[in-house]
Amino acid sequence: RRAHHAAGAMNIVLIGMMGSAKSSVGRILATKMHRRHLDLDSIIEEQCGLDIPTIFARFGEPYFRRLEAGAMFEVGNFSLPAIISLGGGAILNAGAMETLKLTGKVVYLEATPEHLLLRLEKSAQKRPLLEGAPDRLLRLTAILTARRSRYEHYADLVIKTDAKDSVDIAGEIIRWWETHARGF
Ligand code: S3P
Repeated sequence: RRAHHAAGAMNIVLIGMMGSAKSSVGRILATKMHRRHLDLDSIIEEQCGLDIPTIFARFGEPYFRRLEAGAMFEVGNFSLPAIISLGGGAILNAGAMETLKLTGKVVYLEATPEHLLLRLEKSAQKRPLLEGAPDRLLRLTAILTARRSRYEHYADLVIKTDAKDSVDIAGEIIRWWETHARGF
């Protein structure tokens, strides 16, 4: 416990696979908790003037990860407390993730590949890592298998999100926060 971060004044950082509802849950949390919402993918798109699929197509994933890590270090320096929705692969940026974790609590929105796919099929946003995959379920399963231990490693709270809507998920996080924030 660090004295300079008063209990309720810590960030809430949402992690999880693409399609795990990090952005919509983040928006709802920010409204209900009267906090600022910082959405990493949107920040990167604004800074670049390009959307995520275009960044991947023109410059490749390693370049995107560098932009993402930079944006993660930046939001870590913003004024507390905020709700921060990260992109699904942000946990691959170990240094930036460790730094961001120091500013608050990390919530992992866990979902099975089947439910992720259902949500992604309703989403207007393109996910470059799924484009061109002959079997999207298989691709999601492979990505989750590769990342699962990192999501779990950073998480202070894991929420199972299958078949839950964003309002319910946000409600669970708020109840957890209200029960535990004093002890953080
Ligand atoms: C990615 C997830 C995306 C976006 C990019 C890469 C990933 O964010 O950052 O397409 O590596 O899982 P969402 O999780 O918001 O879809």
